[in-house]
Amino acid sequence: MNKTLLKNGIIVNADGKQKKDILLENGKISTIGDVKDFGNDVKIINCADRLIFPGMIDAHTHIGIPIKAGNSADDFESGSKSALNGGVTTIIDFTVLDKDQSLNESVLERQRLAEKSVIDVSMHCNITRFDKNILNEIPEIIKMGITSFKVFTTYKEAGMMLTYNEIEEVAKIITDNGGLLMVHAEDNDVIEKSSFPLIQRKLNEPKYHAIARPAESEEVAVEKIANIAERTECDFYLVHLNTANGLGIAKQSNKLFIETCPQYLLLDDSVYERADGQMYVASPPLRKKEDCEALWQGVMDGSIDVIATDHCPFMLKDKPPGIPFQDIPNGMGGVETLFPIMLAQFLKRGADLSRLVQLISTNPAKIFNLYPQKGKIAVGSDADLVVVNPEDITENWMDKLISKIDWNAYIGFPAIFPNEVFHKGK
Ligand code: URP
Ligand code: ZN
Ligand code: ZN
Repeated sequence: MNKTLLKNGIIVNADGKQKKDILLENGKISTIGDVKDFGNDVKIINCADRLIFPGMIDAHTHIGIPIKAGNSADDFESGSKSALNGGVTTIIDFTVLDKDQSLNESVLERQRLAEKSVIDVSMHCNITRFDKNILNEIPEIIKMGITSFKVFTTYKEAGMMLTYNEIEEVAKIITDNGGLLMVHAEDNDVIEKSSFPLIQRKLNEPKYHAIARPAESEEVAVEKIANIAERTECDFYLVHLNTANGLGIAKQSNKLFIETCPQYLLLDDSVYERADGQMYVASPPLRKKEDCEALWQGVMDGSIDVIATDHCPFMLKDKPPGIPFQDIPNGMGGVETLFPIMLAQFLKRGADLSRLVQLISTNPAKIFNLYPQKGKIAVGSDADLVVVNPEDITENWMDKLISKIDWNAYIGFPAIFPNEVFHKGK
């Protein structure tokens, strides 16, 4: 049976809500309206009192990336299955550029790994090395359809950092070829100045991770990137923005898209004092309650464009207590809980659900060239749909997770898991 009819649901798009039937045919949305003429060969699902959202897009995942301690805990099969369970039907992941590899090779290698995914996967192209060959390849990569690149203003010790001058060179080429440049914005000099004295004094518990990478590191980096954006007219996208001051600077520029993540909205640096504090170590670190509040303000007033997860999970065994903060594998999971947790937060706060759709579906689809195939419930769009009963809100949702990861940052937060998730009609 190739057809499914979702009857009497409330469609939530970025521009409002409407009660309509949706007919799914051959992986696409074929009709929206009062569907009466649908033939026999149709599976009918009663969606009365259900909200129906476009498939969510997690624009920032790191599935199974190599770091010095091993690989992050998912592969594309397990990671994508858990994403789908939580309502995410597209992820945008990052290539990993090995020493001596070309950009093209890094893209092909990651695309091959992503073939195991059960949902759609797009790629951002990481530029973690600066040389003539890499610069020459950028136009080719854009022609291949990969238009978003990412650079880091830190991780010098891991050999991934580009200087601000190098970033400016990359930005000029990307502007000339119609791409977008994503930036992990933490200033490396500020981090070195803050972290060396801590390491020398052997102050190495998890809470020092946040002190070693202070809010000032984001402010300095964002200011410099905003200036580069102004000079080069390149479109930039700041990943995982996490401080009030960083947001204050970034939102003054009209060349910067801004992403934040659930962890920076919902968790603050007090978690580093917990017995499992090491599990919350990620870069950038969690900040102060005031920063969370400022980010919420940005989410609601439109200055933040995207909520994505920076999904980079590790198992409990990968991050045992007691290891110095500088040796703890960086990252947390989140792709499976992105939508369930954020939907519950929006409902609790009485916020407009169309705004949620903008942040986790429509805006990433538009910014990363997936719209209107993705990011919208419309005739002709992919039949990627998330059906939800808003009454299903609960704080006891751990048994709904299918991820193989044995630790979750959001235990105790309310969540609403979907009743049904369709990816290309299935
Ligand atoms: O700690 C994190 N976020 N790890 C993933 C890599 C990155 O910086 O986004
Ligand atoms: Zn990052
Ligand atoms: Zn990341």
